Amino acid sequence: MDLQINSFEDYKRVYEYSVAEPEKFWAGIADTFTWRKKWDKVLNWNFTEPNIRWFEGAKLNITENCLDRHLETLGNQPAIIWEPNDPEEDHRVLTYKQLHDKVCQFANVLKNNGAQKGDRICIYMPMVPELAIAVLACARIGAIHSVVFGGFSAQSIADRIQDASCSLVITSDGAFRGGKEIPMKSVIDDALVRCPSVKKVIVLTRSRTPVSMIKGRDAWWEDEVKKVETMGNPDCPAEEMDAEDMLFILYTSGSTGKPKGVVHTCGGYMVYTGYTFANVFQYQPGEVYFCTADIGWITGHSYIVYGPLSQGATSLMFEGIPTWPDAGRLWNIVQIHKANILYTAPTALRSLMGFGLDPVIGKDLSSLKKLGSVGEPINEEAWHWFDDHIGHNKCPIVDTWWQTETGGIMISPIAGVTPTKPGYATLPLPGIQPILVDENGKEIEGNDVSGNLCIRYPWPGMLRTTYGDHERCRTTYFATYENLYFTGDGCLRDADGYYKITGRVDDVLNVSGHRLGTAEVENAINMHANVIESAVVGYPHDIKGQGVYAFVVCPEKHGTDESTRKDIVMTVSRIIGPIAKPDKIQFVSGLPKTRSGKIMRRILRKIAEGDTSNLGDTSTLLDPAVVTEIKEGRI
Ligand code: PRX
Repeated sequence: MDLQINSFEDYKRVYEYSVAEPEKFWAGIADTFTWRKKWDKVLNWNFTEPNIRWFEGAKLNITENCLDRHLETLGNQPAIIWEPNDPEEDHRVLTYKQLHDKVCQFANVLKNNGAQKGDRICIYMPMVPELAIAVLACARIGAIHSVVFGGFSAQSIADRIQDASCSLVITSDGAFRGGKEIPMKSVIDDALVRCPSVKKVIVLTRSRTPVSMIKGRDAWWEDEVKKVETMGNPDCPAEEMDAEDMLFILYTSGSTGKPKGVVHTCGGYMVYTGYTFANVFQYQPGEVYFCTADIGWITGHSYIVYGPLSQGATSLMFEGIPTWPDAGRLWNIVQIHKANILYTAPTALRSLMGFGLDPVIGKDLSSLKKLGSVGEPINEEAWHWFDDHIGHNKCPIVDTWWQTETGGIMISPIAGVTPTKPGYATLPLPGIQPILVDENGKEIEGNDVSGNLCIRYPWPGMLRTTYGDHERCRTTYFATYENLYFTGDGCLRDADGYYKITGRVDDVLNVSGHRLGTAEVENAINMHANVIESAVVGYPHDIKGQGVYAFVVCPEKHGTDESTRKDIVMTVSRIIGPIAKPDKIQFVSGLPKTRSGKIMRRILRKIAEGDTSNLGDTSTLLDPAVVTEIKEGRI
């Protein structure tokens, strides 16, 4: 069976085959990768425990697929092009050969510092090439990386380090983001007060922000590299991994207060990210691919590092932000590096749209051939702006729907091959079997329908467990509906059978493409000394997609309403990180609750959205009068 997809007809044929013969289909894809030993069985699974095992018995190392196998043919091709935060600073290019050498060298540094296969290593770094090197070096020696996004607080880092009992941390002195210099090492120092499992901290020099180095625990990246250089052998043979050995943990928010460590394994994740990268973007040799995500999120893991590199692509990574020094920065980067593919987020597009067309006019975007969007629903206005002003109506836009848990893209157009439709993720990729169900788990068949989005058959990139708590994985994803993986998203399938993701149906918010649990934000707000309780909901926000609206019971304030709001925002920033700051805080005397004490979020959501005309039946509430007060006090 020819698995190449060059036309819509090919897609239909391959898709049908992937559903009829999933194991043969995935074996065909997996054959294009390098294995030390092939699998005994393609797939073993059940969604009840759940127990999902792909390519069982196979041996590999993902870095041999991302680096070694390209050395002969692509050794001098750029693997990573790095654009610094400050446009005045020189950009850097790492060829596959250079990246291979640096990964081996740093893998030896990790070993020298006691790291072994199976150890958990926390990485908290800015978007510099060394972040990709650190990730790959962990994978090289079989250590499990847990990358924590730079916008998280010391407390959040500590929670993640403790949950996984990390023994080593890789960080930098500081980071540059737009006009700001952000401390990194000192945040780690605050986190480590609570993390006895950490024995070593390796610190990269980036900003020359003053730091305190603790004797015996902390070492400079550069010094450690020198040490291994003087030891001679620059190579570091890759550790042989089982296909189902853990590759990494990535923490993500859910509907409970505590983020969970989503676990991905070596073989399936490699096959899935490599295949979907090559297929969705129709990557052609020599193309420059620019993904604006941060490696701290799943998009960066799958589509800056592993997917592109396993396919021998040139991955352009950017340290800064789209609006600094001005709102033309992304377009300058496209122009300078002649990027052919641009993969970005709706929130970035919406914020750039706000600056008008001046920053775009005069920029040479003629190198662009394909565009992609990820992270949240893309509204039609942003879709058309992207199409008209960036793609000049000649670049297909792939609106890619997926999740941290899915490992890679699930529902998406295939660039230039399958149709696009503004606001729609369109059709499932080969191997992906979506299903819509009603509240009771009954399948909703046919077209022009909507329901809760589930997946009914495993795919290689799916999560295997949540670290240290398999039961949580089962109850969160596999227990809501029998024998289905539940995504937490609502979805419609239009008359043509195209999928449009309508947003989360659980208590998860998507703020600027960042996932936040309402309970997580509430817990943080409740840490403030004067707060008695709070309820957090999302509301439509022009740029962020969703904003955070907090209803807070705080009868005794230390200062004015405004200063208390600031204190609460500061508390959330300290507990979770600046990304979780509430946009609006309304002080209320009580929350609408049922007689059994359950907060009626539906009512709060409607009020936050400004839709107060029909709040439904409020007579069953413990104190119906509170609704009138909240309605009137809406911000
Ligand atoms: O609600 C969906 C939304 O983002 C959620 C996953 O968030 P996260 O795990 O942080 O991963 C983001 C990057 C893959 C989903 O449950 N989402 C993601 N992509 C889209 C989307 N919503 C609509 N359209 C998309 N293309």
